[in-house]
Amino acid sequence: MDDLHFRSDYARTAEGLSELGRLIRDVFEIDISPLDRLGHDPSVIAFGWWRQDRLVANVSLYERRLFLRGECVSALGVQSVAVRPQWRGKGLFRDLMRRALRHADGRTELVILATETPSLYRPFGFRQVRETIFSAGWVSRQSQAGCRNLSLARNEDVALLLDLFSRRAPTSLFASACDHSSLFLLKAALTPGIRLVHIPDLDAVVVIRTDADTLILLDIVAPEIPTLEDIRTHLDVECSRIEVHLTPDRLGWRPEGQHSVDTGYMVRGPFPAEGSAYMLSTMRI
Ligand SMILES: CC(C)(COP(=O)(O)OP(=O)(O)OC[C@H]1O[C@@H](n2cnc3c(N)ncnc32)[C@H](O)[C@@H]1OP(=O)(O)O)[C@@H](O)C(=O)NCCC(=O)NCCS
Repeated sequence: MDDLHFRSDYARTAEGLSELGRLIRDVFEIDISPLDRLGHDPSVIAFGWWRQDRLVANVSLYERRLFLRGECVSALGVQSVAVRPQWRGKGLFRDLMRRALRHADGRTELVILATETPSLYRPFGFRQVRETIFSAGWVSRQSQAGCRNLSLARNEDVALLLDLFSRRAPTSLFASACDHSSLFLLKAALTPGIRLVHIPDLDAVVVIRTDADTLILLDIVAPEIPTLEDIRTHLDVECSRIEVHLTPDRLGWRPEGQHSVDTGYMVRGPFPAEGSAYMLSTMRI
């Protein structure tokens, strides 16, 4: 352990980002290099233990902008929690979480993360919260012309999306996220089946995928949130059911069903939507 040194200055340098990317690839088999072109989140602060020029353990914080019960809330998210196998069981994760939370405590009341291992985070004061999927029958309409799927391989399409991101409105005033575009873009880049449908008439990008006969609405990036009926008249998708993975209060739509799901979210501090039916966007890694 004597040959390790602590750093928290590397999330904004090319060398630091490349080493963080290597750790994430080795531990999670996720390639974050598309963000070199699509844009890294400049708010990330990484806390890490290094051995010479190799990052062996990391916990990152990033800024989150949430809308919760009508208020815009600044929070911090925890991400990229990883320790290389040969360095596990030595307290490095515990040390980095403490450092990250000490940093967070002076800045925000709410810290949020997503995990498949909640027992890791309970000792640090995190508790699990459940989200809700909203659903109804769906009748496809004859679509109007002019919509197309954006491709993240095309610079013009990325620019169009980033412009909409800079002007986007919250999808819900009750519970939604208006974060930096990086995790959204990474999710879209890494997930086959996700369609980014640009609807010029609505000045919107609607994020969808289909599962058998179900249309799944994942997100809407637009300066004014269109109603679901507006979206229906523009989408060229044949399905008989819709699931909305967003809080639907701005969609002018009444779901017929809803069911609560564990999406891995945990919170620390006051979380005004807790106990209600809501869904922040799942467009994150
Ligand atoms: C999970 C991980 C970050 C833990 O790192 P670590 O440095 O070995 O953890 P520490 O030695 O600091 O252990 C801190 C505590 O967490 C516990 N812990 C470690 N791994 C755990 C796991 N997989 N599940 C539950 N608890 C775990 C330890 O028992 C220890 O508990 P204690 O304080 O009661 O003794 C590391 O195993 C890892 O990188 N795993 C793969 C990636 C991963 O799962 N990341 C989390 C994604 S949300």
